[in-house]
This record gives sequence, structure tokens and C-alpha cells, in this order.
Amino acid sequence: MSTLTVVGTQWGDEGKGKVIDLLASQCDMVCRYQGGANAGHTVIVGDKQFIFHLIPSGILHPDKKCIIGNGVVIDPISLFEEIESLRKGGIECEKRLFISDRAHVILSYHKLLDKIKDEARGSMKIGTTGRGIGTTYIDKISRIGIRLSDLMDRDTFRKKLEINLKEKNHLLESFYGKTKVRAEDIEKEYLPYAEKFRPYIADTSLMINEAISKKQKVLFEGAQGTFLDIDFGTYPYVTSSSPVAGGVCIGAGVGPTKIDKVLGVAKAYTTRVGEGPLPTQFEPQFEEKMRIKGKEYGATTLRPRRCGWFDAVAVRYASIVNGLDRLAITKLDVLDELDKIKIAVAYEYKGKRLTTFPSLLKEIEEARPIYEEVDGWNTSTRGIVRFQDLPQKAKEYLDRISKLIGIDISIISIGPKRSETIIVEENLLGA
Ligand code: GDP
Ligand code: IMO
Ligand code: MG
Repeated sequence: MSTLTVVGTQWGDEGKGKVIDLLASQCDMVCRYQGGANAGHTVIVGDKQFIFHLIPSGILHPDKKCIIGNGVVIDPISLFEEIESLRKGGIECEKRLFISDRAHVILSYHKLLDKIKDEARGSMKIGTTGRGIGTTYIDKISRIGIRLSDLMDRDTFRKKLEINLKEKNHLLESFYGKTKVRAEDIEKEYLPYAEKFRPYIADTSLMINEAISKKQKVLFEGAQGTFLDIDFGTYPYVTSSSPVAGGVCIGAGVGPTKIDKVLGVAKAYTTRVGEGPLPTQFEPQFEEKMRIKGKEYGATTLRPRRCGWFDAVAVRYASIVNGLDRLAITKLDVLDELDKIKIAVAYEYKGKRLTTFPSLLKEIEEARPIYEEVDGWNTSTRGIVRFQDLPQKAKEYLDRISKLIGIDISIISIGPKRSETIIVEENLLGA
């Protein structure tokens, strides 16, 4: 086996960063394939916390190559800040971070329009991260987007910029009543990044495929989660890319025959940041208590995350659309002090029992979860490293989740640190 894809099975922030960092020690290359700096992947090593937005969460392992694939949308300012802050901490990215020449570039007007457009949606506001993700993917699909290879070529950049600004300025001035953006200003702000990034630019699809053909091990790092996916998420309250495992093929440039195994990361409960339905959301007082316990505040925007019970309807659906092979369950420790724990096993909508995740927003919003209540373990899991040492009720909770989803659990996380992990299955990437 050569490749392992790690995806979020809920609404993002499942703890993918921690899991990727752990698994990175077993692989040769870690590759992001979609999204952008809307992601915030936390890795804690010793007393240091790193939050990665664009750089793959394997970068802390000095002998690993890290790739930002063609499917990622890149904010040069944000990426450069990340590279610089790592450099200041003694971690060098050059010669081991490679960025696809085909990746699209997020410019200041994308971020501006992202914010203005979301505000203009009024009660239908998505609550985007304001990082220009959706507006950049719009340009990509409209075939007017600017790729990194365009930024590298001054004439092409200027030409494309002018075409873009004709349309953007009309929208900004006439529709939104804002001042227009000048090509000279954008050029001045972004052209310096062309030189800064030149050493990192590569045809990353070729690099990944070469690594695979040499039987090296490649980890694909999903950002966001299945229910933020443009197709399978709670549309329109989604992001503008494909976080599901299938996104790897398009966003990294590898064929489906190269996707060997898929690991789904799920929190032992559920969280969501931004607008849109969350069927198992806790009632406000309990939610606040759990938010504080789980430190559930966005890693990118610092917004409070909404919290709820584990939703087996959602994660089971995620297991289908991602073709999951294994599960990693994170933040089990956050449930340590509860007498009773609920799991949503189905939804009820207009008197009907639903066992698969609906597509119609109204149905998701109005569906009432049908819960199964299990006993909590009401004791600390801190310091446990072997599955057999977990409290009996915690084992039963995990077994129940695994049965409901129909997938075995390979990793259990009981704290943010590397050491706070129970590895149920060694060598997920093969021996
Ligand atoms: P990602 O976007 O999926 O990488 O997840 P985030 O980094 O946005 O959010 C996960 C948060 O939970 C981070 O603050 C992690 O440090 C933290 N975390 C990860 N695993 C665990 C765990 O098992 N227990 C606890 N208490 N915190 C965890
Ligand atoms: P990671 O990779 C959680 C949410 C936003 C908003 C919606 C659309 O850390 O799990 P966008 O800026 O993408 O257009 O916003 O998606 N969102 C995330 N929520 N984790 C993320 O990434 C997210 N990336 C985007 O809050 O609701
Ligand atoms: Mg996150």
C-alpha cells in the first residue's frame, strides 16, 4: 500500500491536523488537495502549538516532503507568513515544500468580495471565513482565474488582472457601492511573491505520481469535512471545494487507482463553525459547558464552535461517500465527565424515520434526531495509551459508534498532544 487519504467526516475541525502529524512519521510525503487558508489544522508538539492553514501538517517532520496541490487556492500573503513563522522557529520549508504551478491564487479582491457577498446574503449568510475561498474557486470555474504559473509571468499576470478587474470593479462599484481596485496596486502587492515562491513551484502531480511509482508512502490531507463539501455537504452552507476522498484525484492529480485507503476522522461528538444546520446541537447551557471543556473555538477565525452529540446518521453517510476503510475518533476525553451520552442513530422528519443524510436543507433543518442513550464513564481517560485500559463504558461507546458506522476504529485520541493517543492499529500505511 502506498497512499492514505485522511478526511473529515463531520463539519471540519475533527482533529485532522493532529492525526496527520502522527501518521506523517510513517510516510514520505504529505499533500493538501483542496481548500485554502480557511483551514486551521492544529498540531501540538511539546509545549508548542502550530496552526497550519496552507502548509501540510507533516511539515514538522524534517525528512518529509510536503505538497500543496493544484486543487488548493493559495493566498500568497498567508502562505508566506506561515513559511516565515516556521523559519523563525527553526523549521525550513525550502527544498521540501512544493507548491503546484496550477494552483489558483487568492488576491485581495477575492477576500474583499468574499466578505461583501456573504454580508449581502442577509439571513442566508454562510458565515464564511472571509479568506476569499469561494470567490477564487468561482474564478477558477469561470476560466478567468489566475494560477501561480500566471503570477510567475509578469505579462500574463497583468493581462489577466486587467480582464478580471473590468468585471470585479463593475460589481464593486455599481452593485456594492464600493471603491474600485487598481491593477497597479494589486501588482505592487503581489508580484514580490512571485520571486519569493519561485523556488517552491513545481508540477506537483508529477512529483506525487513519481513517489507512488517508487512505492513511497503518500498521505493526502483533507481540509474541512464531508458536510462542508460542495456536493455532499449541507448546501448552500458549505465551502466551495471537495473535501471528500474523491477530491484527491482532481486536487492532487492522481488517478483513482492510486487511492489505497481512506481514514475518516470524527470527533467523539460534533461541532460546526459558521451558519447552517447542525441536527444534534446541544441546548445552549450544556453547549457552553462542552464548548469550554473541548476548547471549541475556531483555529482560523476564533469564532465559538457550535457543539452537539455524535451524529451516526451523518458519519455513516460520510463513510459511504468517502469509501472509508478506518476511523480515527478524537476528543474522547471531552466526554469524560458525563453520566449519560447520546448518539443520534436516525432522524425523524414528518413522522418518517430517516437513516441516511437528506439533501433538502429544509429536511435537515427540521429533522429531529432519534437518540440512543448510553452510560458515560464519568472518569478521566488522561494518560491511557492502550485500548484495554480505557474505562469499560468508554470502550462500549466506541464499539457502538464503530458498529453504527460499520467501520473499525484505528486511532483514538484523548488529548491534543502526540502522546495522548491510543493506536489500535499500527502501520496504517502498511509495513
Ligand atoms: P482540524 O481542523 O481537523 O485539524 O482540527 P482543529 O485543529 O481545527 O481543531 C481540533 C482541536 O482539538 C485543536 O485545538 C486540537 O489541538 C484539539 N485536539 C485534537 N485532538 C484532541 C483530543 O483528542 N482531545 C482534546 N481535548 N483536544 C484535541
Ligand atoms: P478545517 O480544515 C471548520 C466553514 C466556514 C463556513 C463555511 C464556508 O480546519 O477543518 P469558506 O470560508 O470555506 O467559504 O466558509 O465553511 N469552514 C470550516 N469550518 N473547519 C474548517 O476547516 C473550515 N473551513 C471552512 O466556517 O461555515
Ligand atoms: Mg480546523
